[in-house]
Amino acid sequence: MLQGKKILLGITGSIAAYKSIYLVRLLVKAGAEVKVIITPSAKDFVSSITLSTLSRNPVLVDLFDEHSWANHVMLGRWADLMVIAPLTCNTMAKMASGQCDNLLLATYFSAICPVLVAPAMDEDMWQHPATKENLKRLESFGNKIILVEKGDLASGLYGEGRMAEPETILTFINHNFFLSSQLTGKRAMVTAGPTYESIDPVRFIGNRSSGKMGIAIARELHNRGAEVTLILGPTTSEFSANGISVRKVTTAQEMFKACNEAFENTDITIMAAAVADYSPVTTASEKIKKSDERLTIELARTKDILKNLGEKKKPGQVLIGFALETNNEKKNAMDKLNNKNADMIVLNSLKDAGAGFGYDTNKITILEKGGQEFEFETKSKTEVAKDIVDTIIRLYYA
Ligand code: CTP
Repeated sequence: MLQGKKILLGITGSIAAYKSIYLVRLLVKAGAEVKVIITPSAKDFVSSITLSTLSRNPVLVDLFDEHSWANHVMLGRWADLMVIAPLTCNTMAKMASGQCDNLLLATYFSAICPVLVAPAMDEDMWQHPATKENLKRLESFGNKIILVEKGDLASGLYGEGRMAEPETILTFINHNFFLSSQLTGKRAMVTAGPTYESIDPVRFIGNRSSGKMGIAIARELHNRGAEVTLILGPTTSEFSANGISVRKVTTAQEMFKACNEAFENTDITIMAAAVADYSPVTTASEKIKKSDERLTIELARTKDILKNLGEKKKPGQVLIGFALETNNEKKNAMDKLNNKNADMIVLNSLKDAGAGFGYDTNKITILEKGGQEFEFETKSKTEVAKDIVDTIIRLYYA
């Protein structure tokens, strides 16, 4: 989506500047042409050599040097987008009040392209009324803001203030400025992660699903312009919503309810969650104490969400399930597709190296109800998500 786009990346003096090195890499990898401007104080945090090597362009710092004058007006006109990441409290204040004492600021004030800022600061600075006022001013100028995230801060404290992760910034850029409109106007629902079925207040039956595959699919659908609801089971995977509507659930029953509520207005539903097939018949209200040598827990079948949605499916709705198999893979997956009235099944076999729970990669085969099969190599889950969404678009929306 960023192929050939010209992006001016401004970096200011914050510890978070180290993340911008990776952002440059991601932007270049996505096909963008990147020019980097750093403020004089950012020089203490990142090296021009690293940035110029990765961006394949000289890094710009000063308005003047002995031999030349950096043409900030032309830079501002060259770019399709200016991104300032990280944006410090200080530079934010200068942008808000029109102070122009370095090349980055001069370029900002000359830019005729859209501007995105990713602030980074300590929580108390972030919460300060002056910061809030400055942010509002930037917004009133039409600048887009990618909000800070919660986490460990450079001060050693924990709280709000971390700059958004480079991947999140990339997704934000794609979605907000160079959005592919392939799925604009379509509503999608994705389930991800495990479910936990309580045995007592401290124990549960769960599984090893990380939720990464479903999260990657939700992001990809969002990148293509769909309005996405992610129904997310309990997972520790890092995830920032940024434009995706998230409903957190814990049990299979809660996931069932959330899916049913959203399904009617959904065009594309992808069930990537590893839903528990059984749940304890009763949940003890107090912690179960050990007593006998053996303990039996009676389990009852949970509702099959995919099957239930398959029964309700109306023409025009696309329903996709996942199948994780260990033997007779294609036959079992095709049986699931038919039994649950799905349109497509994404099959991953535990026999394939790099596929299944916990990995950052996956190897899939997509089986479609008309009998077509699409086999893919082992890839990162982000790439697999692209393959899945490409296949959906090709089969149902081309
Ligand atoms: N699924 C579901 N509700 C359940 C169980 C599974 O919606 N209670 C969905 C999963 O999200 C997945 C598909 O059904 O998209 C297949 O899940 P899987 O666990 O592989 O299959 P099962 O139907 O549970 O069959 P089995 O466990 O016998 O392989």
